[in-house]
Amino acid sequence: MTDLPERLSLREVGPRDGLQNEEPVPTAGKVALIESLSRTGVGRIEAVSFVHPRAIPQMADAAEVWAAVTPTPGVRYSALVPNLKGAQRALSAGFSEIEVVVSASDTHNRRNLNRSTEESLDDIAAILALVHDQGATCQVIVSTAWGCPFEGDVPVSRVLSVAGRALRDGADGLSYGDTTGMATPSRVTALVGETRSAYPDAALNLHFHNTRGSGLANVLAALQLGVSDFDASVGGLGGCPYAPGATGNIATEELVHMVEDMGVSTGVDLEAMIAVAAQAEVLVGRTLPSQVLRAGPRTRTVT
Ligand code: COA
Ligand code: ZN
Repeated sequence: MTDLPERLSLREVGPRDGLQNEEPVPTAGKVALIESLSRTGVGRIEAVSFVHPRAIPQMADAAEVWAAVTPTPGVRYSALVPNLKGAQRALSAGFSEIEVVVSASDTHNRRNLNRSTEESLDDIAAILALVHDQGATCQVIVSTAWGCPFEGDVPVSRVLSVAGRALRDGADGLSYGDTTGMATPSRVTALVGETRSAYPDAALNLHFHNTRGSGLANVLAALQLGVSDFDASVGGLGGCPYAPGATGNIATEELVHMVEDMGVSTGVDLEAMIAVAAQAEVLVGRTLPSQVLRAGPRTRTVT
């Protein structure tokens, strides 16, 4: 395990991927969650998305949320967008890091974004031009990268072709989303390996859901290939309203707990992240799936 990265860059996605799948919570609660997360030492936070309020009513107040947040210096905040209109809204709200999403599988893209993957890729080319013109950056998220709830397995070649188009159009980086938790370690190794061969210079972030319990195993497989950028959500908040059976992201505190003990630093204060997971449970009013939240760190003793 000597070739694991020394340090990870984690992106906390609970305020967006998490809260979009919960009953709507008050704007002030979202702001408080983002500000609490900002004090954990996590380096990146996906704060909101600028999507159609009919598609995701939970994100209807995105601009208000961001206007009310006091950013913590040193933390990078981003907004997810589905199309050009969303990118314009994110830039006007003051974001300088944008993520635009497209699904590798056509059926999921149509259900999520109401257009084909090709049409979204054309839209993304225009988004990249706009975002760069305004001095901002844009990561392209390729969803359903390890499989689609409607089409089943998605071929590696299909993911590579979507990623390649985005990179040719100027994407600042890629993120592969395991939208419904269909990845396994061998599939992670295969897709990451093929991507590295095809696009050796592309920055690659990975986004796993724990739908089938393989989330942290998938992270470990990617770590062994040197990947150092991962999404996770506090408490394991999350899901996808357009993907039947989707459950939460891997829990940030579980990821931190595992990798820090392997000598990989995250910058995150584990106890602080566990405390925010408890705060997130109160906010959404349900028990969250994180086991480290329940059991505490491995060194916690019974008093
Ligand atoms: N934010 C707010 N309004 C938007 C918008 C956005 N990002 N994109 C489009 N609209 C508005 C348009 O202005 C237009 O308004 P009008 O009727 O008043 O003129 C209307 O929506 C229709 O525009 P159109 O481009 O035809 O959108 P659509 O109906 O095909 O919907 C999306 C496409 C992408 C906007 C919608 O499917 C969406 O928001 N999906 C996001 C799903 C999501 O967030 N999934 C989880 C994260 S991966
Ligand atoms: Zn997700």
